[in-house]
Amino acid sequence: MYHNYDAVVIGGGGAGLMAAAQISPAGSTAVLSKLHPMRSHTGAAQGGMGAALGNHEEDLWEWHMFDTVKGGDYLVDQNAAEILAQEAIEAVYDLEHWGLPFDRTPDGKIAQRPFGGHTRSYGEGLVRRACYTADRTGHMILQTLYQRAIRNRVDFFDEFQVVDICAEGGTCQGVIAYEVATGELHTFRAKAVLVATGGFGRMFKITSNAYSFTGDGPAMLYRKGIPLEDLEFFQFHPTGIYKMGILITEAVRGEGGTLLNGEGERFMERYSPNLLDLAPRDVVSRAIHKEVLEGRGVEGKEYVHLDASHLGREAVEKKLPDIQDFCKTYIGIDPAVDPMPVQPTAHYAMGGIPTDVDGQVLQDEKNTAIPGLYAAGECACVSVHGANRLGSNSLVELVVFGRRAGRHMAKHMEGTDFLELKPEPQERIREELDRLLASEGGENVADIRRDLREVMMGKVGVLRLQDAMEEAVRDVRELKQRYKRVSLHDKGKRFNMELLVALELGYLLDIAEATAVAAAARKESRGAHSREDYPERDDENWLKHSLAFQTDDGVELRYKPVNITFFDPKPRTY
Ligand code: SIN
Repeated sequence: MYHNYDAVVIGGGGAGLMAAAQISPAGSTAVLSKLHPMRSHTGAAQGGMGAALGNHEEDLWEWHMFDTVKGGDYLVDQNAAEILAQEAIEAVYDLEHWGLPFDRTPDGKIAQRPFGGHTRSYGEGLVRRACYTADRTGHMILQTLYQRAIRNRVDFFDEFQVVDICAEGGTCQGVIAYEVATGELHTFRAKAVLVATGGFGRMFKITSNAYSFTGDGPAMLYRKGIPLEDLEFFQFHPTGIYKMGILITEAVRGEGGTLLNGEGERFMERYSPNLLDLAPRDVVSRAIHKEVLEGRGVEGKEYVHLDASHLGREAVEKKLPDIQDFCKTYIGIDPAVDPMPVQPTAHYAMGGIPTDVDGQVLQDEKNTAIPGLYAAGECACVSVHGANRLGSNSLVELVVFGRRAGRHMAKHMEGTDFLELKPEPQERIREELDRLLASEGGENVADIRRDLREVMMGKVGVLRLQDAMEEAVRDVRELKQRYKRVSLHDKGKRFNMELLVALELGYLLDIAEATAVAAAARKESRGAHSREDYPERDDENWLKHSLAFQTDDGVELRYKPVNITFFDPKPRTY
C-alpha cells in the first residue's frame, strides 16, 4: 500500500508528538508507532522536567546551562545547551497552556523540586528546577501532547513498525512500515521524516527501559552509512529496583530520601560532600557500585537501600504515589515504612543519531545535513547531555528539540516537492523478512538476546576495563554470527511478534557492537564512561565526540570537535 504525507514521524513518544503538534498546522502529518502512543517510554519518566522558572528561589537559565555542561563532563555542545536552558522555560509554559496538570505551589505557580546536579550560582547549592506532576510527569506530558496532536488532526498508524528509512543519495524520500496486524508492508512517501524512536537500553541485563527500547531508528540509519555519535556514554540511573531495574525516580532523593549502605551509613557523604545524594547520576551510580564491590552492599548483596520512610506517609502518598505502587506490586514493600533495595540500572543513551539544533540529521564529521531527515529525543544526539545527562533534562530535551525539529520540518515542507523513491522500494526489506521467516538455522532469538544483555552488563557497564571491553566486542560479533542462523517458530503474518523481536534484536546487536568498539577506543574516564585503567579525564586527547560508521570491515570510528562557547573545561567536583 502507498501513502503520501507531507511529514512522517516515526515514534509516538514525547519528541515525536511534540514535533507532530508543530508540523500538523502546516501540512498532512502521520505518526507511525510500533506501540499505541500512550505506551511510549516517555510515560515512564517520573520525576520532572528541568526549567529555570525560579518558582521557589531565584534561578537563571545560565545556571541551568552551566549545570548541564558540567554534568555532561564538558562533552556537551554548548550552543545546544544554551538553547535547551533558554527554551525550556517557554516549552514548560506551552505544555501548561495545552492542559498539563503540573503540581502547584501554595500560591498557584508550577511546583519544582531539586534533581541531581542542578545548582544555583554556578555550583553553590541545590536549586528546585524540575517541574513535576507527582511522579508521573512523563505520563502527563504524553497525554497532553497526544491530545494536542489529535486536535491538530494528525493521522496515527499504531502498531506500524518502520522497517526501512528511504534515505538514498543524500536525501530522504520516505519510509517503509510493517503493519503488525496483517504483515503487510506500506510505503509512505514524505517530504520530511522525523526519527523519534527512543533509546536502546534493552541491550543491558538490568535496565529501566521498556521492552520496545531497541534502537530501531538509530540502527536503521547506521546501516545506511549514517554515523552514531558518542555511543560509549550510556547512563546508569543509580536507583533501579534490585534485580528488576524498574526505575525509582530521582525525585525520591529530591524529596529528601537518602541512600544507605549495608552498614546503615550515608555513604554519599564520602563521594559528594556538597550535593550528597543529589550528585549527578554517574557519580552516584559509581558510588553504589563501589560500595557493593567493597562489600558494603546490604547483606553482602549487589544493592543498597534508598530510604524514604522518614518523609512520612502523607508525603510519600502525595508526591510519590507511583513509586509506592510499584514497590508494593513488585517487591511487596511500602516505601512509607521500608527502605527500597536499589542498584544502578541502564537508563539512558547520551549518544545517538547526530543532529544539529533543528533536528537535522548530520551524516559526517563536517556536520553535513541530510535534507528532509530529522531526529529528536533519546535516539538523537544534539548533544546536550555530553558524557552524562542530568536528571530531568530528558523530558525537557524532547520537548525543546521536538518542537524545534517540528518547526524546521514545517518550513522545509513549504518549498519542497515529494522526491522519487527508488524503484521497488520494498524489495530489500521484503527479502530480509522472507529470509528471517524461512531460516532454519536453529538459533533462538531469546537465547541470543539473553547473552547480549549479559555481555553488555558485565563488560561495558558502570566501571570499565580495556580487556573486558575488547572481549565484549568479540562476544557481540559472535552473537551476530549466531543471529544469522536464527530461526522463528512463528511463520505467520498476523501479529508475528517473534518476527518483530528478531528484527529488534538485529538492531540491538549492531548498536551494541558500535558501543563496545567506541568504549574500548576511548582511553579516559569522562562522565558515564568510567575506566579503572584510565581513571582521569584527558581533555588534551579526548575532548571530542566519537562517530561510529558501519562499514564492510566493521565499525569505523571518526571524531569531531566539541562546541565550546562559554564554559571552559574544569575539574568536575561536587
Ligand atoms: C527520574 O525521574 O529519575 C527519571 C527521569 C529522568 O531520567 O530524567
